Amino acid sequence: MSRLVTGAAIHYKDRWGVVTGASSGLGRGLAARLAARGMSLVLTGRNQARLDEAAQEIRRASPQVTVETVAADLAAPGGVSTLLAHVGDRPIEVLVNNAGFGSYGPFADADPGREADEVAVDVSAVVALARAFLPGMLERHSGGILNVASTIAFQPAPYQAVYAASKAFVLSFSQALWAEARAHGVTVTALCPGPTRTGFVDALRADVGHTVIYRRLADPEPVIEAGLQGLEEGRAVVIPGIRMRLIAESGRFLPREWLVRVSARLLGPARVSPRPPIVVHNEAVVPAPAERVFDLLSDVGRWPSWYRACRWVRVESTDGAGRPASFRWKAHPVELHSTVVAAERPHSFAIVADGRGVHAERVFRLRPTPDGLRTIVVSHETQVGPMPWLGRFVLAPRLFRTNRAMFEDLTRAASPGEAMPAAAARAFGRDELAHP
Ligand SMILES: NC(=O)c1ccc[n+]([C@@H]2O[C@H](COP(=O)([O-])OP(=O)(O)OC[C@H]3O[C@@H](n4cnc5c(N)ncnc54)[C@H](OP(=O)(O)O)[C@@H]3O)[C@@H](O)[C@H]2O)c1
Repeated sequence: MSRLVTGAAIHYKDRWGVVTGASSGLGRGLAARLAARGMSLVLTGRNQARLDEAAQEIRRASPQVTVETVAADLAAPGGVSTLLAHVGDRPIEVLVNNAGFGSYGPFADADPGREADEVAVDVSAVVALARAFLPGMLERHSGGILNVASTIAFQPAPYQAVYAASKAFVLSFSQALWAEARAHGVTVTALCPGPTRTGFVDALRADVGHTVIYRRLADPEPVIEAGLQGLEEGRAVVIPGIRMRLIAESGRFLPREWLVRVSARLLGPARVSPRPPIVVHNEAVVPAPAERVFDLLSDVGRWPSWYRACRWVRVESTDGAGRPASFRWKAHPVELHSTVVAAERPHSFAIVADGRGVHAERVFRLRPTPDGLRTIVVSHETQVGPMPWLGRFVLAPRLFRTNRAMFEDLTRAASPGEAMPAAAARAFGRDELAHP
């Protein structure tokens, strides 16, 4: 049992809860936590197989509770009725209105059917289910509703206009119900997560990786924990995470037009005219055969042993011959995800790297000197990213110096035991800012 600040309580043991959107993500996690507190559950979603899987997992972890599933499409006529018919007249102590999805793109291009479904699931079903279960809670002076809204509810969101408006509805609706219900010892909480790692981003059916907002996704566990804690404490609104709280609350102090313009920047599509890339070119003569130099460059798992700017490398996949194909690594101070896009021993080695909004492509070309004892290595790197102009002028020379230092390290690693020959250390090159 959990006591609310309003004076009443939510009872879990031997009581029933309903969780919508329980087949994945936050809903599935919330259901598992309620069951762990002793609550029996009706789980709903459209995908029966995933609901069954979630129910089985919950039964295994919390064998003392009963878990039922009912497949219902909350966007379809009759979807809400199917769920209500399944629940029947049993008293519901906790309702988690979690099912929901969003879309992304200019409103004028949106699929009207999908937008209507979005409003049906994100808004209409929330209202219908609250209307169905709240009166019983008020009568019993016990229970609560957790409505999953979003931090997007705090400002209009260009390119997610319908989704943001729907979640603003859920936020406003929840706060109003909270004030009506609290005198009866019942609570209504709006959980407002920021972007979180669940099925949500895939369900947007659009590439949003370029947006500032969706670039970084939070872990679902703290969101789930904060939601249930907020419900138990009788809070009207819960925004998990201090960063999200700041972002959500800071909008209050901005003029409305500014707020929506900032929102448009954070959610906007990639700019039509991207900033010109930074191009950095380095060359060096390394005193070792091309095969040796190629092996050092392509054995990325061993980069930290000779490449001073590389803190660590985690190889994530290999090619048919067991050579690294994709890897995560830290090139001070940025964590990058890289893919080997070409590796032709001993002539060329090319990788692409992505991290913190930066996309870099780097090609190494290797040419043996006529005696075969040394190798001329040419590195060509281009970077595109969100750097403002001033940053680019600072970044390009820095990148050039970092790459030159890599060549010094490569030279040292390629000729172990030898002091670095003066000729070899003569890594030379130029950096430039390319203008398209
Ligand atoms: N993840 C985020 O970044 C984020 C941020 C803020 C708010 N939220 C909100 O959090 C809630 C949960 O989403 P999630 O992040 O856990 O995403 P998710 O993993 O995609 O889960 C969404 C759930 O909603 C259900 N659902 C979708 N359409 C439905 C329909 N027509 N009828 C019935 N159920 C439907 C899905 O079940 P089926 O596929 O089985 O139908 C699924 O169980 C949503 O309300 C979402 O708007 C998410």
